Amino acid sequence: MRVLVTGGAGFIGSAVTRLLVLGRGAEVLVVDKLTYAGDRRSLRACEGRPGFDFLEADICDRERMRATFADYRPDAVMHLAAESHVDRSITGAADFIRTNIDGTFALLEAARAYHSSLAGEAQARFRFHHISTDEVFGSLGPSGAFTEMTAYDPRSPYSASKAASDHLVRAWHETYRLPTLITNCSNNYGPYHFPEKLIPLVILNALAGQALPVYGNGSNVRDWLYVEDHAEALVSVVERGRVGETYCIGGHSERRNLQVVEAICDGLDARVPAGRPRRELITFVKDRPGHDARYAIDCAKIEAELGWRPQQSFETGIAATIDWYLANDWWWRPLREQRYAGERLGLPG
Ligand code: NAD
Ligand code: TYD
Repeated sequence: MRVLVTGGAGFIGSAVTRLLVLGRGAEVLVVDKLTYAGDRRSLRACEGRPGFDFLEADICDRERMRATFADYRPDAVMHLAAESHVDRSITGAADFIRTNIDGTFALLEAARAYHSSLAGEAQARFRFHHISTDEVFGSLGPSGAFTEMTAYDPRSPYSASKAASDHLVRAWHETYRLPTLITNCSNNYGPYHFPEKLIPLVILNALAGQALPVYGNGSNVRDWLYVEDHAEALVSVVERGRVGETYCIGGHSERRNLQVVEAICDGLDARVPAGRPRRELITFVKDRPGHDARYAIDCAKIEAELGWRPQQSFETGIAATIDWYLANDWWWRPLREQRYAGERLGLPG
């Protein structure tokens, strides 16, 4: 397979690219703008491999995208490029509207022109896979889970921009018969996660002996999915998913934020004792505005249709993640020193 991966220098996109190139022997062209969240070092294991290529480009650049499709002639697009951090979307939504909505539109138009230029087997094989989030479904109460039938109810600028992009993708399928697939997944964690998100932020702050900020009272629930399990799910969908369908992907690992932070403290204490328990660093801070209470995914559809299931439990996944950050300061130290030092984001002035 020859796959164009947008956002492949980001957290999930780099996991997908490593799986495709190193695990599946696929040919991959990563298209990435290298924003603050993108880093070519996350693709170090793929550099120089046969069939791996990198193009620094903005998905909003329609002409460039059109030319890229025509030159590269992919069998599939896996579209992961996005602005992805809720707190940054609260501080300023412009980049989210631009990349997540306009960028998806530009890519859909480029894919449509390319798809209509194909014939026969090549046209039948082509897929446009849009990677989205469970946050488009809004906030759950104490029970229940999101499914593919859940109505859209986004509540943050980030989730609203992702919802808009999902609607565009569905419209391009219905109107132009572009062979699309959409996946909506829960919170990912694991190696190469930019340290603005809860889990890597807490690991690195705890290692530095800094305060561990828990928004509100720490009772918000997320369904944690190990990123390499997610990459496996995405590759199954692009290879075998039914055109026009949506698949929800979750980790069977609901945890309250405070439980997550405590698990990290205990995991670090067991590996690199600090003299006093790191739980003492936990600090409850002002809540995020519009903070969604709970997300949970029912992944019965992808499990039944494609036979995918997450391999990691939260306990094994968080242990692997802590071990990875302890062993790979070459990756995160420059990011903490040069791009983002851990200051609070997303409190409107
Ligand atoms: P990320 O922020 O780590 O990476 C995003 C990548 O996109 C970066 O490499 C960045 O340089 C690139 N990018 C941004 N704007 C671009 C533009 N205009 N043109 C080209 N490249 C651009 O994000 P992630 O966590 O890897 O998320 C990937 C996708 O998965 C996103 O679409 C996100 O909405 C979705 N998602 C993420 C999660 C999660 O927990 N991280 C959960 C559900 C869905
Ligand atoms: P985050 O990693 O930003 O993902 P999302 O908002 O997309 O779910 O946050 C995960 C949860 O952790 C969310 O409920 C907000 C909370 N949180 C904190 O309590 N402290 C923090 O410093 C951060 C970044 C997040």
